[in-house]
Amino acid sequence: MLIFAIESSCDETACAIVKDGREVISNIVFSQIKTHQKFGGVVPEVAAREHLESIGPVIKETFEQAQIKPSEIDAFSSTVGPGLVGCLLVGLNAAKTLSLVYNKPYIGVNHLQAHVCANFIESDLKPPFMCLLVSGGHTQVIYVKDFNDQTIVASTIDDAIGEVYDKVARLMGLPYPGGIMLDKLAQEGNPFSFKLPEAKVAEDEFSFSGLKTALLRLTQSFKDKEMPIKDICASFQERVSDTLIKKTLNLADKFNCKTIVCAGGVAANSELRKKLFALDEKGYKTYAPKMKYCTDNAAMVGSCAYFNPIKCENPLELEVFSRA
Ligand code: KG4
Ligand code: ZN
Repeated sequence: MLIFAIESSCDETACAIVKDGREVISNIVFSQIKTHQKFGGVVPEVAAREHLESIGPVIKETFEQAQIKPSEIDAFSSTVGPGLVGCLLVGLNAAKTLSLVYNKPYIGVNHLQAHVCANFIESDLKPPFMCLLVSGGHTQVIYVKDFNDQTIVASTIDDAIGEVYDKVARLMGLPYPGGIMLDKLAQEGNPFSFKLPEAKVAEDEFSFSGLKTALLRLTQSFKDKEMPIKDICASFQERVSDTLIKKTLNLADKFNCKTIVCAGGVAANSELRKKLFALDEKGYKTYAPKMKYCTDNAAMVGSCAYFNPIKCENPLELEVFSRA
């Protein structure tokens, strides 16, 4: 089954063609980062307008790269939510229009489920597994019992971890989105230079606001002295990756689950991946998407449309939504 997929929930206009949920035939991502960098974050109205301008060319390029005609597609899909409403509308209307023009079904996809499904691309992963979902907007642990049977078993009570990465990066004067840059600097620093606090919360909760405040104090404490940026980044990254993996591992044990998976933009983080893959030596089976399928892309939407679409009698009536 060939699915054409669109992702436009935030600041990436992306399209992909995916075969049977696992094989990516073509994958195009147009990032708006340069536009939003000057504002230090995503401006929703500007993002929506950019999606409108780029969706046509991105659709065209995706078909050209695949050497496939729209009439050969079996279904058209798009992210329905959560995300920025004006941005989601662009992708949703484009996918619904293609579905009507070519008389093929429209399939709606939940953005968070799509991140989870990025792990099915070019891999043999099957449920059950425990998934740590870490993105700019969400931090959750999801028990994926079956493709369509999932339960959130932990989530953040304040900030999402990607958001914390971006805010901490800003404290150190790094450009938006700071996650990638912070990760790069962290790899050159000493992770044990600064002892940073770990929130004392329930096993089904994450909290990062205390860590964020600790980082604010730490960066301010250098006043006129030069800030040891690499060591701060490394210590922050150590605290975050340790907390995320420890908690996920505990929950996996609680559910007697031996397969552990990461998903979302922060799953591209070098230290998080290192700690995840190290669990293989302890008898777990671990998975993380390829780097290009961690941050927002449409290949994961195409995979999700196949494995775990939004259930709905008439998908053409689906409306965008901003929150999970
Ligand atoms: O999943 P995503 O592309 O968008 C959302 O659905 O939110 O995630 C974006 C987030 C940003 O906060 C970005 O800074 C973070 O993922 N990110 C990283 C890395 N690459 C992207 N955070 C830490 N380390 C990275 N290597
Ligand atoms: Zn995302």
